[in-house]
Formats: sequence, structure tokens, C-alpha cells
Amino acid sequence: MKNLRFILLLLIIPSMGCLDWFPEIGIPAGEKPWGELNPMQHVFYAMHDSPAREDQELGMKVPPAGSVSTEQLVYPFSESDLAKSAELTNPVAITEKSLRYGKMMYETTCVVCHGERGLGAGYIADKLTVKAPSLTSSAIRGWSDGQLYHVISHGKGTMWSYKSQLKPMERWSVVNYVRALQRAEYPEPEDLERTRDQ
Ligand code: HEC
Repeated sequence: MKNLRFILLLLIIPSMGCLDWFPEIGIPAGEKPWGELNPMQHVFYAMHDSPAREDQELGMKVPPAGSVSTEQLVYPFSESDLAKSAELTNPVAITEKSLRYGKMMYETTCVVCHGERGLGAGYIADKLTVKAPSLTSSAIRGWSDGQLYHVISHGKGTMWSYKSQLKPMERWSVVNYVRALQRAEYPEPEDLERTRDQ
């Protein structure tokens, strides 16, 4: 019997915090001093005294002094500046990871027209009035990375710009992958050596 009373007490005390056992009388909504009205809530759960912060309460995150987000850099060349864009340097190093990423972006954005191997016969090739050219032609192999980047950013002739689909770093990764496609079609002597070794 003594035990039962003890168990009941154990059940009742914490539940006082959940249920509003203490009547609120004459206090307008929104001004309830919950902690004082219902000490149990304060003690056990602190539900009405949540430490969660309001959005923006701490202000915007301040970037380090002098830093400029690469996403905010304005592309300096207009559509007709294809030749000038040659001077841009590719900031994305060729690594297995960046090539895989470039492949993924190429296969979501370019493959439909330029084809899996970049030879120009993509899935929708028949529907295009101007055929998508091969990206492995000697002319395009002779282009700099900057010029490829320029065409992705501005488009060319009937090809649309892909700058809203691909962020700058993604465009450069696609450029690297186009290079890999070119090299797959026209291997360097060292690539052939490597194939022979295997
Ligand atoms: C909807 C079809 C389509 C898609 C998607 C597309 N292109 Fe093109 N692309 C074309 C066509 C068509 C041309 C030729 C345009 C012209 O000369 O009028 C072209 C031209 C190019 C050229 C210049 C080739 C040359 O010989 O002048 C490059 C480089 C190129 N595309 C790269 C890309 C890359 C990289 C992507 C993906 C980011 C891409 N394209 C997505 C249709 C497409």
C-alpha cells in the first residue's frame, strides 16, 4: 500500500508539468508568466522558457574582411568576347573527384545535344535545326579552357546559355570533362602506353 502511494506520487508530480493544473485567472493571453504560474513546468521541462533563438536574432553571418564570394564575381566578358575569354584561367584542378562531378554535370546538361562521347549525336539531335557540333573537333581541341567556359556561360549561335543551370565551379568542371572526352577520342601517347600496360 505504501509502495502504491509512492508510485502514484511519482506519476503525478511530473505530469503536473504537462497538464496545466494551475488555473490561469485574469491574465490576458500572450502575457502568461508561465514559469511563475506553473512552477512544475519551469522545474521539469522549461517548455515556456525555450532557449531557441529567433531568425536573424544574432544578425547576418559576417564574411571575413576583404573576402569576395566566388559566386558573386561578375563574369567580365560579353557574348562577343570569345577571343578575350581565352585569358581566363581554370580554377578547378583536374582530380578524379572534379572529373566525376564534371561528368555528372555534362550528363545532365549537355549530353542531350552533344552526346555521351561529345561527338554531337545526342538523344535530341534529330530535333535540332542546327546540329550540335562535335566537342572533339580539332577546332574545339585548340580552344582554351576559358573559351569553352565562355560558350557555356553565354551560349553560341543557336545554343542557349547555361549559366543559370551551372554555377561557375560547375562550368569549369564541365570544361575539364570535355577535355577528358577529347582525350578519349584523341589519346596522348602516354594514354596509349598506359592502355598497353594493362
Ligand atoms: C539544346 C542543345 C544543346 C545543349 C543542351 C548544349 N549545346 Fe552546345 N551547342 C549546341 C548547338 C546547336 C551548337 C552550335 C550552335 C551554332 O553554332 O549556332 C553548340 C555549340 C557548342 C560549342 C561550340 C562548338 C563549335 O564548334 O563552335 C561548344 C563548345 C558547346 N556547344 C558546348 C556545350 C556544353 C559544354 C554544353 C553543356 C553545358 C552544351 N554545349 C549544351 C547545342 C547544345
